[in-house]
Amino acid sequence: MRLRAHIDEIIYAEISDRRQHPDSSRVDILSLLMAAKDENGELMSDVELRDELLTLLTAGHETTASALTWALYWIHYLPEVKRKLIDDLASVGNLDFSAISKLPYLNAVCQETLRIYPIAMLTFFRIANSSINILEQEFEQDTLLTPCIYLTHHRPDLYPEPNQFKPERFLARQFSPYEYIPFGGGNRRCIGLAFALYEMKLVLATVLSRYSLALAGSSTVKPVRRGVTLAPSSGKWLVATQRYTSRELVNSR
Ligand code: HEM
Repeated sequence: MRLRAHIDEIIYAEISDRRQHPDSSRVDILSLLMAAKDENGELMSDVELRDELLTLLTAGHETTASALTWALYWIHYLPEVKRKLIDDLASVGNLDFSAISKLPYLNAVCQETLRIYPIAMLTFFRIANSSINILEQEFEQDTLLTPCIYLTHHRPDLYPEPNQFKPERFLARQFSPYEYIPFGGGNRRCIGLAFALYEMKLVLATVLSRYSLALAGSSTVKPVRRGVTLAPSSGKWLVATQRYTSRELVNSR
């Protein structure tokens, strides 16, 4: 509660500062939210702005950042994956974000990243409104159920060799919303699904085209709990070996 009060203080001070010094050239998310109007032409209140920012900070930032970190780990741990991904990226223009977001192998790498170590191991819990039978198991009304994303994603009948990172499984078949649930499911499924995947693809495409990266020799990377999420262990395990200039990028295309 003390932390929340402190965070509120910082956020409200930022909002108040922006209101006092408006700058229409700013394109950061708070500026965009402050400029947004609803269908009646109304701006958001300070409380609404604070809620949106807190959602982005707590639900949207670390989740996607951890997913991206895992993706970079797998891409550099498995040279074959990196090679195929670079080929995939080379087939579209650098700034063609719409084409990048549709690349099949890039999509498969993102899906497999979120399968093997789902950022959230569990969905939020559900309470049975009435008694229900699931897979021959009877649950009474009011039973609290917590679907486990990690266990679902590691079922060998759905994902043969579940501990192996294989993007190809997402090219070979489509998984149903009951088999693949990195963003949960049903009507409380993650509201940021499309945004997170789009962001992951664009960031990966941008980073891979601007930097040459490599895993640092001996470090082992393991999944560790970070609050409610599952993140790569800390340490300096990925290093940039080269940075491409815009000219080199243009010449390489
Ligand atoms: C890779 C990135 C992300 C992952 C893996 C992820 C995963 C999840 C999961 C598993 C849930 C629970 C869904 C359920 O119980 O069925 C959830 C809920 C939620 N997520 Fe995400 N999320 C990600 C990114 C984001 C982003 C970018 C935002 C916001 C911009 C966001 C906002 C939310 C919100 C508001 C909920 C609660 C939805 C509700 O209860 O109706 N998430 N997310």
